Amino acid sequence: MKQNIYDNNTFFSKYQEIRARENNYNNLLEQPNFFTLLPTLKNKTVLDIGCGVGDFAAYCISQGAKNVTGIDISSNMITKAKKHHIHQGLYFEQVAFEDMEVPNGTIDFISSSLAFHYIADFQLLIKNISTALCEGGILLFSLEHPIVTANKGKESWVTNEEGNLLHFAIDNYQNEGLRTQNWLVDNVIMYHRTLSTILNTLIENGLQIEKVIEPIPTEEALYSLPSLSKEFRRPTFLIIRAKKGYINS
Ligand SMILES: C[S@@+](CC[C@H](N)C(=O)[O-])C[C@H]1O[C@@H](n2cnc3c(N)ncnc32)[C@H](O)[C@@H]1O
Repeated sequence: MKQNIYDNNTFFSKYQEIRARENNYNNLLEQPNFFTLLPTLKNKTVLDIGCGVGDFAAYCISQGAKNVTGIDISSNMITKAKKHHIHQGLYFEQVAFEDMEVPNGTIDFISSSLAFHYIADFQLLIKNISTALCEGGILLFSLEHPIVTANKGKESWVTNEEGNLLHFAIDNYQNEGLRTQNWLVDNVIMYHRTLSTILNTLIENGLQIEKVIEPIPTEEALYSLPSLSKEFRRPTFLIIRAKKGYINS
């Protein structure tokens, strides 16, 4: 099931408020780690899945990418992307990845920041990505960590009577599939899969895993946003870089 929650205007305006803050989880934790795994972009053909307002796609152009396509299911996102980023070689399209015509072996680099947990069929997603990538092409993506998606919709931090955090409890880890949570609005849908499903799906589709990051905050990030200290107790994000091409064994 596809849910276009970013076209719910209440959700979208609350989401934009969070992203406008300088000290948010994206700017302090996810994005800095994501950027450490970027391949060379010069003259590359790039596809950004769930491109949002298009900042990353525009960054790829600024780094010399030949052409960059950002796709997103949300009209709110694509309207902003098209308004704010106009460059030669930069294209935005409002389409769900599931409905996109999959290019055949022509993309050098596929990126996706925090969108894959919204996509129901992970097998098909990764199969189509593998088809779209050229030999040696790179997939770099981040998503919510399985440790946090397992429990979505339920309170995971266990507290004492004073409200202090005792520990993070996870449940239903091996029970993959749809989760609903109340984040910004009620009934936001996302999908939980185990770490082994995520990694094995890449491997089974001819993608060699090159690097995996479970980000922890730097000293500076902790100073800016002390609540990030919780990242030492459980990870929020998972970031993976993989390369198309089977290893001979
Ligand atoms: C958390 S936002 C991240 C946006 C952007 N990547 C960024 O980092 O700023 C997730 C994005 O994924 C998009 N999305 C969700 N499901 C999608 C799907 N099936 N196909 C394409 N985009 C999708 C949403 O509309 C939203 O813009």
